[in-house]
Amino acid sequence: ARTRVAIIGAGPAGLLLGHLLGRHGIDAVILESRDRAYVEQRQRAGILEQGTVDVLRAAGAAERMDREGLRHDGIELRFDGRSHRIDLPALTGGRSVMVYAQTEVVKDLIALRSEAGAPLLFEAEVLAVEGADTTAPRVRYRHQGREHTLACDIVAACDGFHGIGRRSLPAAHVFERTYPFSWLGVLADVPPSCDELIYAHHPRGFALHSMRSSTVSRLYLQVDPEDGLDTWSDARIWDELATRFALDGWELTPGPITDRSITPMRSFVSEPMRHGRLFLAGDAAHIVPPTGAKGLNLAAADVTLLAAALLRWYRTGDETGLDAYSDEALERVWRAEYFSSLMTSMLHTDPTADPFAQRLQLAQLRHTVDSAAASTSLAENYAGLPLPCID
Ligand code: FAD
Ligand code: DHB
Repeated sequence: ARTRVAIIGAGPAGLLLGHLLGRHGIDAVILESRDRAYVEQRQRAGILEQGTVDVLRAAGAAERMDREGLRHDGIELRFDGRSHRIDLPALTGGRSVMVYAQTEVVKDLIALRSEAGAPLLFEAEVLAVEGADTTAPRVRYRHQGREHTLACDIVAACDGFHGIGRRSLPAAHVFERTYPFSWLGVLADVPPSCDELIYAHHPRGFALHSMRSSTVSRLYLQVDPEDGLDTWSDARIWDELATRFALDGWELTPGPITDRSITPMRSFVSEPMRHGRLFLAGDAAHIVPPTGAKGLNLAAADVTLLAAALLRWYRTGDETGLDAYSDEALERVWRAEYFSSLMTSMLHTDPTADPFAQRLQLAQLRHTVDSAAASTSLAENYAGLPLPCID
């Protein structure tokens, strides 16, 4: 079999890339190792930056998002028994974010692909990428118990942190940092106790109140990396959340927990993001700690750049965009690494911090909310950089 672009992985990166290319008549095959239900139900991110929203709209993939998504114009920082609002549009010249879950973005893109009749194979695990430094690369994969080879012009590895794409890049340089805590995330069938997201810093640790809809809440707690789900009963989770969010005149309403998981926190970048005809995009090339809500948005930004470069190459033979892809993508990646690392260290409680460091952290939080310059910087990074326009 043969296609122009072989896309590994049907997460947000692979699906959006396939959609952007398909709209311009460039055929691609998406190979995904898991089944459809798994990919559609995996609970992950929930915040779309302005630039991601714009790209989905321009690409005709935002109909349900515009109906069901919740536009948010602010976030709350809560610490030291006080609450402070960061007004996103006022500080960024009108930019805001959208609360719309990754699961829904993925469902929408899969539905569009299947309406278009474009190839997307589930339970198709890629085993090897071959000939990346030739003009005729190939992808070997296993599907329904048999091995197949897909010949192509370009391989786009959108296969996440545990994928094969990253490992197929010779001589990549890896930059990495781990943190002394994890996130326990829960989904609960209860209306959110707030209208906007709350990022809370507390001596017992960080907590985040997010949401999926007017009836479903999404909450996160900083936990010890050694903790397992069995150490966190429902009652303990709600008690701990109530303690960390505590504020006079405010109450957290508990409810039935329907999904839970623990995620370690890390920062990771693999450079460059290209080798010959093999291009990496999304979590395959980089991981950010989730505090800045950047992971999914970076994946969307990478594939928007990559799609633009591929369109130009297929239309005119001009390779400039492909040659610039890795450097251009990495500039945004490092900006997001910087912001995610800053949000993480500012809001979490480091079990190894000395009293001096604890005082510095409070001073940083106060400066962030009291200074117009510091609030503006946070708002600009949170709402995100504009993306190149491609329809
Ligand atoms: P993925 O979504 O990981 O998709 C990669 C796909 O490739 C997967 O479907 C995988 O099955 C497939 N694949 C892998 N190997 C192969 C192979 N050999 N052959 C074929 N297919 C393969 N971000 C936030 O902003 N906020 C959050 O709260 C948040 N929570 C997260 C929780 C978890 C547990 C994880 C892992 C990530 C979280 N993120 C969060 C990050 C965000 O979800 C990711 O940045 C985003 O999913 C990246 O999309 P992607 O398409 O690059 O990769
Ligand atoms: C969500 C996750 C994040 O990491 C974040 O910063 C904000 C919201 C969420 O899953 O809703």
